[in-house]
Amino acid sequence: MGFAYTDLSVDRDDLRDDVLTGLAASPKSIPPKYFYDEAGCRLFEAICAQPEYVLCRTEQSLMAAHLPDIAAALGPVDCIIEPGAGDCVKVRRLLDTLHPANLVVMDIAGAPLAAAAEPLSRDYPALAVTALGMDFIHDLEAATPYLPAGRRLVYYPGSSIGNFAPDEASALLARFRQLASAQGQLLIGFDLKKDPQRLHAAYNDAAGVTAAFNLNLLARLNRELGADFDLTRFRHYAFYNPVAGRIEMHLVSLAEQDIHIAGQRVHFALGETLHTEHSYKFRGDEFSALAQIAGWTLKAAWEHDGFAVQLYG
Ligand code: AVJ
Repeated sequence: MGFAYTDLSVDRDDLRDDVLTGLAASPKSIPPKYFYDEAGCRLFEAICAQPEYVLCRTEQSLMAAHLPDIAAALGPVDCIIEPGAGDCVKVRRLLDTLHPANLVVMDIAGAPLAAAAEPLSRDYPALAVTALGMDFIHDLEAATPYLPAGRRLVYYPGSSIGNFAPDEASALLARFRQLASAQGQLLIGFDLKKDPQRLHAAYNDAAGVTAAFNLNLLARLNRELGADFDLTRFRHYAFYNPVAGRIEMHLVSLAEQDIHIAGQRVHFALGETLHTEHSYKFRGDEFSALAQIAGWTLKAAWEHDGFAVQLYG
C-alpha cells in the first residue's frame, strides 16, 4: 500500500539555539534528543547489543511472551503510531499480529528513519507506511494532518518516556492522548526501579559504547556547528540517583578549558559538568499515576525481569 516520507524535522538553528541556551545555563545541559544523529543512532543500536544493557532485549522477550494477551486486550487496531521509532524493528512484532491498515512512524533522525521504514512497505504489502522526520517532543501536533482515521494505537516502547521528568512525561502522555483521539489506546514500555548496581552497569558498559554515545554529542557539535570540543578532555559519567529515581548521564570537564561554538566562547571549570540525559525508572503504580494525570485509564499491565509494558485506553 506504499510508503511516504515527509521531512518536518528541526532546522539547524533549533540545534544551535538549544545548545547555546543549554551551555549558558547552570548546570550546563543539552537535551538528549540531540544524541541521535546518524552516528548516534548506530551507537544506540550498539548499546542495545551490550551484555549489560538488557533493556531492549528484556522488552522484546516480554512482548514475545505476552503477545497473545496483548493482542486480545488491544482488540482491533487500524493505525499504529510510533513516536521515536528509530530502526523500526520493534513495531514489526505488532504488525505481524495486529495487521493494521496504517503505520505512522516519527523520529527526529529523519534520514535513518526513512531508510528503516521504507522496507516495511515491501515486507507488509497491505500496509500504508508514513514516515515523518520530526521533533515530536517539540511539536507533536505537526503530525496530525498525516494521521488516518480509525482506531489508533500509540506505541511508545523502549523506555523512551524515561528521558522526561515526571511533569514533562505527563504532559507528553497528554499530547499522545490528543493524538490517539476517541477510542485511542497507548501501549508503552518502561524500565522499572531495580538493584542500582544493575542500572549502573547498564550505563557503564565495559566495552565503552555508552561512553562513545555520550561523547558523540560533542563530536556532533564539532561536525554540525563547527565547535572545537576536545573529546579527550571530557569524561562520560553516569550514575543512578535513587532519591530522584533516575540515571543521570554527564560529560565532566577534565580540565579548565574554553571551547568555541557558533561564534561564542564557553568556559568549563575543571570538574564542571555538561548534563546530557536523565533516564527515569519507575514502579508500575508510579507510572500509572502519571498516565492517569494525562487522562489515560490503565487497561492491562505486564512485567518481566525489571521491565514493564502497560496498556491504556
Ligand atoms: C533510549 C532513552 C531509553 O535511557 O536507557 C541508553 C538511552 N542512554 N544508554 C535509556 C540511553 C544511555 C535510552 N533510551
